[in-house]
Amino acid sequence: MNITIITGASSGIGQEFALQLDSLFHNMDEIWLIARRKERLTELSLALHTKCRVIDMDVTNSASMNQLSELLAVSKPQIRMLVNCAGFGLMGAVEKLSLEEQLGMIRLNCEALTEMTYRCLPYMRGGSRIIQMASSAAFLPQANFAVYAASKSYVLSFSRALGQELKKRKIYVTSVCPGPVDTEFFDIAEKYGKTLSVKKLTMVSADKVVKKAIRDSREKKDISVCGLPIQAFHVLTSLLPHSVIFHIMKFCK
Ligand SMILES: NC(=O)c1ccc[n+]([C@@H]2O[C@H](COP(=O)([O-])OP(=O)(O)OC[C@H]3O[C@@H](n4cnc5c(N)ncnc54)[C@H](OP(=O)(O)O)[C@@H]3O)[C@@H](O)[C@H]2O)c1
Repeated sequence: MNITIITGASSGIGQEFALQLDSLFHNMDEIWLIARRKERLTELSLALHTKCRVIDMDVTNSASMNQLSELLAVSKPQIRMLVNCAGFGLMGAVEKLSLEEQLGMIRLNCEALTEMTYRCLPYMRGGSRIIQMASSAAFLPQANFAVYAASKSYVLSFSRALGQELKKRKIYVTSVCPGPVDTEFFDIAEKYGKTLSVKKLTMVSADKVVKKAIRDSREKKDISVCGLPIQAFHVLTSLLPHSVIFHIMKFCK
């Protein structure tokens, strides 16, 4: 049985992956949709042509992760694609945000993504692909978004290294690094702080980000960056000393 697994499928970018992969992959037996909000997943599953398995779980919960592992062991699927989208960010100064909320970002964005990847790998074979949602926040440390940006640097670094390790198995890993994407992400991210207006000018749709990510994954690229402004930001962060960029950013509103 060939399957695709998508975490964070109940909204935004994860939901968009489900919709686009459903119309692209005609030889996929099932799409496994993972998130906590079951009703959203069920609604999505009804809109897809591919058979879906709705798995309502918190990916940071180890008992739920063990249950998912048991399900994999029983079904023995071939995972042709894993898309790790579950994630959240919170803006605000490290001293002001609660410790629990900040550790929560690390648990979801880093630990759960690593665990999901690890548990799925035994069921992947040559030609399987992994798509990891990182962010352009991975390119540069960001004051007032410190833990989130650091968590996404982890995703990018981990996934690029993993991609190197998996090349010999012909399993390809793509890290997706968009700037702001128009999703529910900001309902949580802006609970205590506001996004810079200059960043909001570069906002793109989930549809655009996912289209490019799928294309880049097909082309076995290790990183997918959508849109000219964010591609330029990526180049700048690799060419200029970060201290110079921090200085420029002081003038951004
Ligand atoms: N939007 C942006 O500007 C942007 C930019 C760059 C990168 N990203 C990254 O893209 C990914 C998707 O974000 P999005 O924009 O699509 O935001 P979103 O609409 O808020 O989606 C987040 C998804 O994660 C799921 N999720 C959250 N906590 C979970 C948990 N503990 N267990 C299982 N699922 C959980 C949510 O579902 P439930 O609430 O139902 O569990 C939801 O489906 C994230 O990793 C985010 O960091 C977003």
